[in-house]
Amino acid sequence: MLKHVNIKPSYIDAKRRTKEEVKILTDEYIMTNELKKLGLGKKYHIITYGCQGNVRDSETISAILEDMSFTSTENIEDADLILLNTCAIRENAHNKVFGMLGRIKHLKMTNPNIITVLCGCMAQEESVVEEIEKNYKWMDLVFGTHNIQNLPRLLSQAMELNELIIEVFSKEGDIVENLPVKRESKYKAFVNIMYGCDKFCTYCIVPFTRGKQRSRKEEDILKEIDGLIKKGYKEVTLLGQNVNAYGKDLSDGSSMSKLLEDVAKTKIERIRFVTSHPWDFTDEMIDVIAKYDNIMPYIHLPLQSGSNNILKLMGRRYTKEEYLTLAKKIREKIPNVCITTDIIVGFPGETREDFNETLQVVDEVKYDGAFTFIYSPRENTPAAKMDDNIPFEEKQQRLYELNELVNKYSNNSNNKLLEKIVPVLIEGVSSKGKDIYFGYTDTMKLVNVKCGSEDLGKIINVVIKDAKSWSLNGEKVNE
Ligand code: SAH
Ligand code: SF4
Ligand code: F3S
Repeated sequence: MLKHVNIKPSYIDAKRRTKEEVKILTDEYIMTNELKKLGLGKKYHIITYGCQGNVRDSETISAILEDMSFTSTENIEDADLILLNTCAIRENAHNKVFGMLGRIKHLKMTNPNIITVLCGCMAQEESVVEEIEKNYKWMDLVFGTHNIQNLPRLLSQAMELNELIIEVFSKEGDIVENLPVKRESKYKAFVNIMYGCDKFCTYCIVPFTRGKQRSRKEEDILKEIDGLIKKGYKEVTLLGQNVNAYGKDLSDGSSMSKLLEDVAKTKIERIRFVTSHPWDFTDEMIDVIAKYDNIMPYIHLPLQSGSNNILKLMGRRYTKEEYLTLAKKIREKIPNVCITTDIIVGFPGETREDFNETLQVVDEVKYDGAFTFIYSPRENTPAAKMDDNIPFEEKQQRLYELNELVNKYSNNSNNKLLEKIVPVLIEGVSSKGKDIYFGYTDTMKLVNVKCGSEDLGKIINVVIKDAKSWSLNGEKVNE
């Protein structure tokens, strides 16, 4: 019988940043003949919460499970293995997962053989793991963001020992290469260019759940993209919490502007990148984006707040003025660019005047779209210790006002496209009706398009006929 000693997360270790060199691990993933048979006749179902980083991790988890002979099912009731890949960014993400665990408990009660697994950012939280040990002891496996490659061994232990197995490392992190991947799309792909984050914005849990900022080597990224091009992929999205800081930790001359240019030269049809932190956005980057047609004119540039007081308390390292200068430069230099953002309202100490400044920035930048959030205290972050004296109703009121303004500008941005011809990568069948497919414009707007199945996976010209708040409708232009 295999022995297992549980390894649990530690807040203190998660915070630590040393000068230690990042290890690139190339043969960590071990798949034996025995492990390969473990999932024979069994079905898995994954639920993914959170950001694109998690979506990409789930694509690796799926591939690992399929290497172990599990097959996928869309239906949770049908699954022999249920895996929740979780997000810790806000309280409601957390609550959703615990709600789902309640549902899974019922399934497990009717069929105790179901294997239940929790991974992702919530697994990195001390309090979550304590809660699971206390009230969700019936679960089988909890593992963290640093050890996806160990999933085969951990699963086999969990299945053999029939007890809750926990393996979560709170460490700065390595770069694990050569993990398998089962991509969700045949046309567009997420490509990690860096992991972790060292910015430690005072409200944010990510630097604790994902470890330190560590960039992949440019040659490994380009190799992955070359493979995708050979398979016929049309679009890559370069992923990281701070993609603009790419390469800063490598000290080999790597930088985001160089990487973008080198990816552009591969001639892949579409290149996107998220997320851009305003602090690291260089002029060289803007020039490269403007120069290459295959780098999409779409920038997600989180503002968080328009007040210098609040930006300072958030630890964002830029001022409202610097942000506005950057946004202006981007609009001037990149033709037809769309800029979207993230904004938090109700950060501790945010006054009505601070909030008004956020509204002013929205008025000035005229965002093409925005994700807006009420501040959610995250355990163990510096902001959670700040005096949060704004009544919840007031926060809701600010969110409402902000959304009204944001919607005005996103509607304007969509309406501007009426009767215009835009390029759309057709990705799949839309639920909106017969012969309707969906895809995204170069500027990342969702379009329902009247076209044919032969257009799937192609970038076609579409004339926009109808603009709604969240999407556009259009028809294929027959050339
Ligand atoms: N790395 C990106 C953001 C990743 S998290 C950046 O720096 O811009 C995605 C968004 O979630 C953030 O931009 C922020 O707006 C929001 N967010 C993060 N922590 C939050 C919290 N504690 N409460 C509310 N929103 C939060
Ligand atoms: Fe979080 Fe800030 Fe890092 Fe973005 S830059 S992931 S908001 S700590
Ligand atoms: Fe959530 Fe973790 Fe991403 S906290 S937003 S899944 S990095």
